[in-house]
Amino acid sequence: MKKRVFSGIQPTGDIHIGNYLGAIKYWVAMQENYDNIFCIVDLHAVTVPQDPKILHRKIREVSGLLLAAGIDPKRSILFIQSHVCAHSELAWLLNCFIPMGWMQRMTQFKEKSGTQKEQVSVGLFDYPALMAADILIYDTQVVPVGEDQKQHVELARDTAQRFNSIYGETFTLPEPLIPNVGARIMGLDDPTKKMSKSETGTNHAINLLDTPEIIRAKFARATTDSLREIRFDEKRPGIYNLLTIYQTFSGRSKEEIEAQFEGKGYGDFKKALAEVVIEGLRPLQERYKELTADPTRIDAILAEGAERARPLAAKTLERVQKKIGLG
Ligand code: AMP
Ligand code: TRP
Repeated sequence: MKKRVFSGIQPTGDIHIGNYLGAIKYWVAMQENYDNIFCIVDLHAVTVPQDPKILHRKIREVSGLLLAAGIDPKRSILFIQSHVCAHSELAWLLNCFIPMGWMQRMTQFKEKSGTQKEQVSVGLFDYPALMAADILIYDTQVVPVGEDQKQHVELARDTAQRFNSIYGETFTLPEPLIPNVGARIMGLDDPTKKMSKSETGTNHAINLLDTPEIIRAKFARATTDSLREIRFDEKRPGIYNLLTIYQTFSGRSKEEIEAQFEGKGYGDFKKALAEVVIEGLRPLQERYKELTADPTRIDAILAEGAERARPLAAKTLERVQKKIGLG
């Protein structure tokens, strides 16, 4: 039996190389040896205000990018979260078992709500309960995510454990799987902040659909420091981040890269970095173009994914309802 993998991505903003290196790349690689389910989490997206037309378009764009990156709908289930309503139902039930104190510790909520704590939606606060439902409803064992989602996966695990201790063995306990390199790609404009879809600065992120010209210009402007040496030194966050991006796209080791740029300047390195990223994204961009030539194709794949996910989710939900004594 292959292990069950589940992961999700929000259909908001532009998908960037942080999403790719921290998550999507691993989802593609894991298809060989795992039983995979990947989800476009539109219900998570609406925890903050969204324009309906843009949201609808972004759901197709993200799906197209995942397929173009190599998610194979024959081997993996790919679907839209809101197409399988059992996620929301299980989220409600889990809400009734998650202590307020656990939720109040979630750092993503603290970051996202900022100084607006009284104004943000209850949904934003409750986001981790829905994420726990996404994971637990498929008896997920492994959740490949970037570093920022580790705390949420741990909350899902704690929730499963708590429920099991009350009602007996019900949920499988999930584990986060975080990449060794690329788990936290930082913003190009400010390497002390993680690269994020919600940052609007034009120079913040390299998006998967950026043209070669844009990629070259963004790297050329990326923040570094006033030193010269090109070294993997965590105390120099700008150059460290760029080197990490180079490492993941080139597949070379740290030593090889440092030797390659020995005696060279930041300008030369940034040019080489841009080319390696442009070449790395080229096949994905070409496949994306082919896929989106027929707009009905992505919708058909998503509909089929939901068909396959629904019975799996329904089975778990029923098991949980029975345990609780509902109905
Ligand atoms: P999101 O953009 O929040 O929908 O995240 C989708 C996936 O990308 C999650 O697994 C995140 O952990 C991962 N991710 C998001 N931002 C980064 C980043 N800057 N570096 C590495 N992984 C990231
Ligand atoms: N919260 C995740 C993010 O922003 C997306 C997500 C929703 C997810 N449900 C999930 C990731 C379940 C893994 C498993 O990146």
